[in-house]
Amino acid sequence: MTQTITIRRPDDWHVHLRDGAMLEGVTAFTARQFARAIVMPNLTPPVTTVEAGEAYRTRIMAAVPEGIRFTPLMTCYLTDNIDPEEVRRGFAAGVFTAAKLYPAGATTNSDSGVTGVANIRGVLEVMAEIGMVLCVHGEVTSAEIDIFDREAVFIEQVLAPLLADLPDLKVVFEHITTEDAVRFVEAAPANVAATITPQHLHINRNAMLVGGMRPHAYCLPVAKREKHRLALRRAATSGSAKFFLGTDSAPHTRAAKESACGCAGIFNAPYALESYLAVFEAENALDHFEGFASLHGPAFYGLPVNEDMVTLEQRECAIPDTIAAGGDVLVPFHAGQTLGWTFSG
Ligand code: DOR
Ligand code: ZN
Repeated sequence: MTQTITIRRPDDWHVHLRDGAMLEGVTAFTARQFARAIVMPNLTPPVTTVEAGEAYRTRIMAAVPEGIRFTPLMTCYLTDNIDPEEVRRGFAAGVFTAAKLYPAGATTNSDSGVTGVANIRGVLEVMAEIGMVLCVHGEVTSAEIDIFDREAVFIEQVLAPLLADLPDLKVVFEHITTEDAVRFVEAAPANVAATITPQHLHINRNAMLVGGMRPHAYCLPVAKREKHRLALRRAATSGSAKFFLGTDSAPHTRAAKESACGCAGIFNAPYALESYLAVFEAENALDHFEGFASLHGPAFYGLPVNEDMVTLEQRECAIPDTIAAGGDVLVPFHAGQTLGWTFSG
């Protein structure tokens, strides 16, 4: 008998669905596995108004294949000049579920991001008051800080002081990559949680740099040393409600990745659950998989858990070398590898 695992349908608490042809090409992959997803607002131009959030949501819904139920949860891109009342209005109207803090210059399309959290104190105060989640890209951007230290320095210079100033603010420390972040989140009160990507559970920085430069293993924050990967695996599989699934699936065309200045981002949406489940199996933590994938996220966001179930079978899953999407070619995470579980819906 094939072994199977059946859990409540998961949600993806951090994904990039892009726009235009790419949006049309990639949305089905996320909608096939997840009921809901927190959709990142780093488009050009970024999603900074209720109107833009609503229009983007409509474009996403148009890209969901017929017969699939999928709810995009929209986020507002915070800028130095964001109007707190716009964010309040978007949240009250059910358009924005969360707001996103990109430190200016930290990553893809973050040029309009925040240059100092002091500039957005007004909106953060409103968010603390109304219970709206702040999603944080936790890296400092100063040129003098080594890229491998940017997350740890962010905790010290930005996140800890921010939470000391606004202790009620609900914060998701996104795509954490270090033992420092794991410890910080574990020690913080219940209004602070973190998402963890499949790639940061599977690879350390060697995957990017040993035997040649491997652009498909490059994302931001970059993968760190092995001890950090092990800390992330312990956190994700621990059963702690502070850690939950957020793929950070971030498609860029193969040409944009394999370039003299390759884009940051790993496209993991097509086999996200298979990838996470491999980790839970290896860590002997299958009993904690549902919590991480399907329960902790809704609990943190104050949303109901999904009623329907999904099943994965213990059957080989061959990951293709490339995937066609949006008239272009994408290289998925685990390209050319075989994973041990297959999502069967
Ligand atoms: O690797 C990344 N890609 N990290 C981010 O923070 C942004 C994302 C993207 O939009 O490409
Ligand atoms: Zn992201």
